[in-house]
Amino acid sequence: MFCYGFCFIISLFIVGPDRVLLVNTLYAFRPSPGFVLTAIREIYKAQTHHMIPSLLRSLDHVLNLTCRELDSVDCAALLFILQHSDRVKVNLQWTSIPTEEIESILFTLDKVSQLSVDRKLLLRFIHCCAASDAQQGAPSGLLKTLQHRLDLSCSSCVELTEKDQTEPLSLTFVDCRAVSTILRHSSHDTQLDLRDCEVEDSSLDLLFPVLDRVRLGASKAVLLQLVSLVPGSSERDTVRRGESLCRALGGELDLSHTTLNQSACEGLAQMLDFSDRLTELDLSHCQLTDQLLLTLIKHLHKVQVLNLSHNKITDAATHRLLQLVSINPSIEAVRLFNNNIVDRTPFKKDKRFEIW
Ligand SMILES: *[C@@H]1O[C@H](CO)[C@@H](O)[C@H](O)[C@H]1NC(C)=O
Ligand SMILES: *[C@@H]1O[C@H](CO)[C@@H](O)[C@H](O)[C@H]1NC(C)=O
Ligand SMILES: *[C@@H]1O[C@H](CO)[C@@H](O)[C@H](O)[C@H]1NC(C)=O
Repeated sequence: MFCYGFCFIISLFIVGPDRVLLVNTLYAFRPSPGFVLTAIREIYKAQTHHMIPSLLRSLDHVLNLTCRELDSVDCAALLFILQHSDRVKVNLQWTSIPTEEIESILFTLDKVSQLSVDRKLLLRFIHCCAASDAQQGAPSGLLKTLQHRLDLSCSSCVELTEKDQTEPLSLTFVDCRAVSTILRHSSHDTQLDLRDCEVEDSSLDLLFPVLDRVRLGASKAVLLQLVSLVPGSSERDTVRRGESLCRALGGELDLSHTTLNQSACEGLAQMLDFSDRLTELDLSHCQLTDQLLLTLIKHLHKVQVLNLSHNKITDAATHRLLQLVSINPSIEAVRLFNNNIVDRTPFKKDKRFEIW
């Protein structure tokens, strides 16, 4: 990456059949995407591929084309540069690319060490990749250049204040099917970031078969949907769903401030039943009643740190909670602040309860 204040001179003598172009520029800052585009277009038009190594060196092996509108000639120029290069970083965030050009870029990604794209362009690459013949290795190539991160969140939009960039992205059935197709070809754990995304249950369902190879980031609403979807079509299916969701969550689940109903609690109970262990489960502010807690309690020994604060738990659940903790040394802490428990004395005997 270029450092600010770093001065360098790029001199490009580009000799074409009918033109001689001299670009001689003193840069105090990193070259703008507009300059990069002009440079690659000139090299492409003149077909001076011997210029490419020195161009890339002076660009520090970064082709930054962010926020540009590429036409088919620009795309051909980009491909020409990529074909004559190796391990270059390409930044296409907020770059517009004609649909028919996506595929050729996709199949040239073996020359790219790192690809940066915004989430809308990422989805287009994912769709194109899923539709392509997997034999050609497109899915694994795409995942590799994305550093095994499929980021559909807004995290890359923080600098942009445009409204439409921070609105939740609605992932359709077809989007989820394409994501699932790509991930089926991944050998690594892929980080799948669905924060700031909205997904319908039937579409989310398509992700279960690949959750075992994913580290998942998602909004609480989507997490709650996933938990509710754990009960599958058969016992075997449910076991697999529970195990892979738990694995994808990396041992922590924060459902605080969501409304847990009976079916969500049953899903959570099954997930816990079939999972190894959760280091932390946050169920604070979930409107949990004694009855809902009873649905879960048989499985809560799988949790190390449990937050049950700000719920509707009463003295009627005291006995079961004491029993849960007394027979399970693996439980480290149970937080019970702000429930409807009147008699707190029984909890004082075990330091693992935090109730004041
Ligand atoms: C790419 O160019 C944009 C706009 O000039 C700049 O803000 C960004 O930092 C550049 N990124 C890299 C990786 O050089
Ligand atoms: C329970 O909650 C889940 C997740 O929010 C929701 O999908 C489902 O429709 C709810 N069920 C009932 C019976 O309200
Ligand atoms: C619930 O308790 C856990 C463990 O002490 C803590 O990490 C978490 O922040 C708490 N959640 C809330 C919403 O306060």
